[in-house]
Amino acid sequence: MKNLLWMGWLSASLFVCSAPCAAKHVPSIDPPLMGWSSWNTYRVNIDQQLIEKQADALISQGLKDVGYIYINVDDGFFGYRDASGQMHAHRERFPNGMKVVADYIHSLGLRAGIYSDAGDNTCGSIWDNDANGVGAGLYGHDQQDIDLYIKEWGYDFIKIDYCGGQDLGLDEEERYDAICKAIANTGREDVSINICRWAFPGTWASRMARSWRISSDINPSWKSVKYIIDKNLYLSAYAGGGHYNDMDMLEIGRGLTPNEEEVHFGIWCIMSSPLLIGCDLTTIPEASLRLLKNKELIALNQDSLGLQAYVALRQNDGYVLVKDIEQKRGLTRAVALYNPSENFCRFSVPLSTLELGGKVKARDLIQHKDLDKLNGMIEQSVPPHSVLIWKLTGEKRLEPNSYEAEWAYLPCYDDLGQKPKLIHYETSAQSSGQMKVSNIGGKAENYIEWNEVYSEQGGAYDLTVYYSCPKPRKLEICLNGEKQTLDKLSSDKDQVSTVTIPVVLRPGYNQVRMGNDFGWAPDIDRFTLQKKGSATQ
Ligand code: GLA
Repeated sequence: MKNLLWMGWLSASLFVCSAPCAAKHVPSIDPPLMGWSSWNTYRVNIDQQLIEKQADALISQGLKDVGYIYINVDDGFFGYRDASGQMHAHRERFPNGMKVVADYIHSLGLRAGIYSDAGDNTCGSIWDNDANGVGAGLYGHDQQDIDLYIKEWGYDFIKIDYCGGQDLGLDEEERYDAICKAIANTGREDVSINICRWAFPGTWASRMARSWRISSDINPSWKSVKYIIDKNLYLSAYAGGGHYNDMDMLEIGRGLTPNEEEVHFGIWCIMSSPLLIGCDLTTIPEASLRLLKNKELIALNQDSLGLQAYVALRQNDGYVLVKDIEQKRGLTRAVALYNPSENFCRFSVPLSTLELGGKVKARDLIQHKDLDKLNGMIEQSVPPHSVLIWKLTGEKRLEPNSYEAEWAYLPCYDDLGQKPKLIHYETSAQSSGQMKVSNIGGKAENYIEWNEVYSEQGGAYDLTVYYSCPKPRKLEICLNGEKQTLDKLSSDKDQVSTVTIPVVLRPGYNQVRMGNDFGWAPDIDRFTLQKKGSATQ
């Protein structure tokens, strides 16, 4: 994958700095995938000429130059299996086979992607009447198909769908594990894997794939874009280290309003989703093309830290999303003021909640404009279905004093909806950020964890837990591996109560876990830290 990295590095460094500081930003992780995919516009109605024309257009429209380097053939290329079980390309659509398509894509200096299913039948066979998709999935043919697609045909990316797997009632983790082993057996280490299970599949996904879908299929409507953003708001803990939540292929250039397109692209960028264009590149409207080529937004997406923005604050109907860019806990952060509602949304955001102090420089990344310096607050009114995306640079980075449950990592969490009583993020009007985590505990591994609890100098703090729990429950708190037990915590129904314990933090990052090895723990809203001897904030 290393040969891909320069792309992300190039776009990131164009944005962040000039040559002298470039060495600091050499990434060690793969950035989110960028390219074009056939599904959104063409569904199964694809052919060799069409794919090659889109690959040509990617280049002539200047998209390769800004980092879009994948051409992904989605569902629709399947022909038939011969007597030995070997898959062949669709006779009419791809009369020369699939290798020539990959070769053509490679000849343009691009990378090629292909599609399959973890079960026996493809989604196209179910939803698009594609009879050739019956029996075309990987199930029963893992190594044979993978060798063909990856080694013989030479594809560099594979999206693995789950319609067939779902119909057969297969176990997701086992299936994807077996397929990934087949991919590893090819000896190719640069293949990019996408798990397409239409919901956050579980923390195992990041061991196997570069990205995993978190929602059902996108369509070119505001409702769909808003729904997918909603699904990803509280999944920031699972993106990182070169592995990403996939918000699905882009519907830019397919009829959204200009403001909605900015939300779509801007939020996909700040959340570090893969960026796979889904429109016809030969007829894309000028404004949509300009947006897709916005280097300042692309740099957020391809940033060397590879982080997903999290919801720092809710304000009226809006969300304030933030993430570090360029340097962890540095002076520069990216922020989005996102208004999904039908009315204007007023944002009054104290910059201290974004951990930035002093005079703060602001740049509008959508409009490519420097703004007046901010002093203490962001005051903005954002129109309906709109977003502002800014890069902020403060004079000081402030120590955080509050950690929301909805930012935390839950090792046992998934969004597959199959396990009753599963730990999960839950809306809660009484909780800060209007979210909490429920169903913590019952077994040692079912905890909630914050891995980057930061103290500038270390030392003695009061740690206050905000929790709710109508019946008395035990809470075990592990700080850097050392456990303290709080017995019989309870709160009035649905109300949030607090309990404070003294702790000693190390300088730098600390790890806080909360759980209960045997019974249920209280629901957790957040915790705060107050340095001993400092004034209450
Ligand atoms: C599923 C996937 C889509 C697309 C189709 C192909 O619906 O989620 O992205 O790949 O299958 O049939």
